[in-house]
Order: sequence, then C-alpha cells, then structure tokens
Amino acid sequence: MAIIKTSNLFHRFPDGTTSLSDVSLTFNRGEFTVIAGANGSGKTTLLRHFNGLLFPQSGTVLVGGTSVKEDPMAARRQVGMVFQDAESQIIGDTVYDDTAFGPENLRLQRPEINSRVAQALTDVNLTGFEDRSPHNLSGGEKRRLAIAGVLAMAPQVLMMDEPFSNLDYPATCTVLSQVVKLHEAGHTVIITTHDLEKVIAHAQRLIVMEKGHVVKDGLPDEVIVGIEQFGIRPPCSVQLGKGIQPWVN
Ligand SMILES: Nc1ncnc2c1ncn2[C@@H]1O[C@H](COP(=O)(O)OP(=O)(O)O)[C@@H](O)[C@H]1O
Ligand SMILES: [Mg+2]
Repeated sequence: MAIIKTSNLFHRFPDGTTSLSDVSLTFNRGEFTVIAGANGSGKTTLLRHFNGLLFPQSGTVLVGGTSVKEDPMAARRQVGMVFQDAESQIIGDTVYDDTAFGPENLRLQRPEINSRVAQALTDVNLTGFEDRSPHNLSGGEKRRLAIAGVLAMAPQVLMMDEPFSNLDYPATCTVLSQVVKLHEAGHTVIITTHDLEKVIAHAQRLIVMEKGHVVKDGLPDEVIVGIEQFGIRPPCSVQLGKGIQPWVN
C-alpha cells in the first residue's frame, strides 16, 4: 500500500536552479529504499517535499493519500526526517527536552510524552543521557539523539538524509543497526546517500537521481550495475565482482 506518492513533481529555487524535474515515485508501507546520487542531484530537496518543508511548484505529493500542500501537519505526523546536520536539529537544553519537543508539539499528555521519550532513548541506546546537554554529545550520539527525537513522534516513515556522514566506525555500526531494527519493526525507511557501501545490503529498492531526475529505480542488485556513470562509487564487493555484501556482519 502506498504511503508516499509524488506525481510529476518539479521544483526550482528562486535563483533559477532546477532541483527536481518530473519526479513520479511511489513508496509503499514498510519498504526500505535508498536514494543515491552525486552531490546536487536533488536528494535533500526531494525529502523536504515529503514532510512539507518544501511544497511542489508543480505536480503533487501525497502522504497517506492526502496532499502535503493542503495538510502539511498530517504529513509531518506520518513522516519524520533526520537531517544531515544533526547539530541543526538540536532544540532542547537537555537530551530529555530535546526528545520531548516533538511529542509536546503534538500536544500529548505528560505521561504519554514521558513514556515516548523513555522508549525512544532506549531504542537509540541513549538511556541515562536525559540530563546531558545535547551540544556536548559526540557526533554519533547527536545523530542518535536526532533519531530519538523523530521516533518519539512515532512517524510511520523515517527519512534520513546522509545518516552516515561524519560518523566514525563504531557510530556508523550503531546507527546502521538501529535503522535495520526500525525497518524490521515495520517502519518505512528512506535513506539518501552518495556512498552506498554501508547501507545498500539492507535496502529493498535503490533509486538513482541525477540533476533532479530519477534515472534508475529498482532492485539494488540490478540498479547497482554501472552505477559509477552517475557519479556514485560502487561498493567494494561489487567492484570485486562479488555482488552486494553486508558492510558489517
Ligand atoms: N537553497 C537553495 N537555493 C538555491 N539552490 C539550491 C538550494 N538548495 C539546493 N540548491 C540546489 O539544488 C540542487 C539540488 O540540491 P540538493 O537537493 O541539496 O542535492 P543533494 O541533496 O542531492 O546533494 C543543487 O543544484 C543545489 O545546488
Ligand atoms: Mg543533500
């Protein structure tokens, strides 16, 4: 069943840059999709249309069958976004406040907020960090906090923009295993990246963007063949002729 559907979506920035051109895509509930593309191919701009941070200039975006332009709040309840720059997503003075911000905005009762915050922090292994200042966390901890903030809003769809950028090896492993767990728990997952190495083994679908267009869309094993022509580095195992292999065991 479709959860997000774009039809003939175009977007141009005020300076004249065309960032999305005739994008028609359907994402089904529970699907794990990776959107790959070189820098500037339109990945971030596309995600920003899914939760109403940007509106289509022409074409439509539907979330759960409802136009995002007509009801952006409904889209935001269903689609959570973890930004590339986790620092920019910090709003609270403590880890607790930061995680509670989303559910507070949903005007939930305090016991419900507390239980969602506790569960979200458990899900990202940040229990015990409640009173810490988010600004003093490590890069990996900040990204996990950003994920917790989104989880506390209980969205069906979890979008992550370049979730592995600037993370060291252990932090990458932690974030990756959490993403896989969330997918197994039934979330729809959409991840953008210019580097397929870490995540592609877990995805069911690979979409390639180039200059605002969707140029390929299908099963990762098939789409990945010849992917370097779009400015994307193939994973090492693919370069070695072994096909897609998990990055960690
Ligand atoms: N605020 C902006 N103003 C003008 N152009 C922008 C803005 N943000 C992004 N762009 C341009 O839109 C295109 C797509 O950008 P983006 O969606 O950020 O790509 P990606 O996430 O794939 O790197 C690029 O050409 C980029 O330079
Ligand atoms: Mg981007």
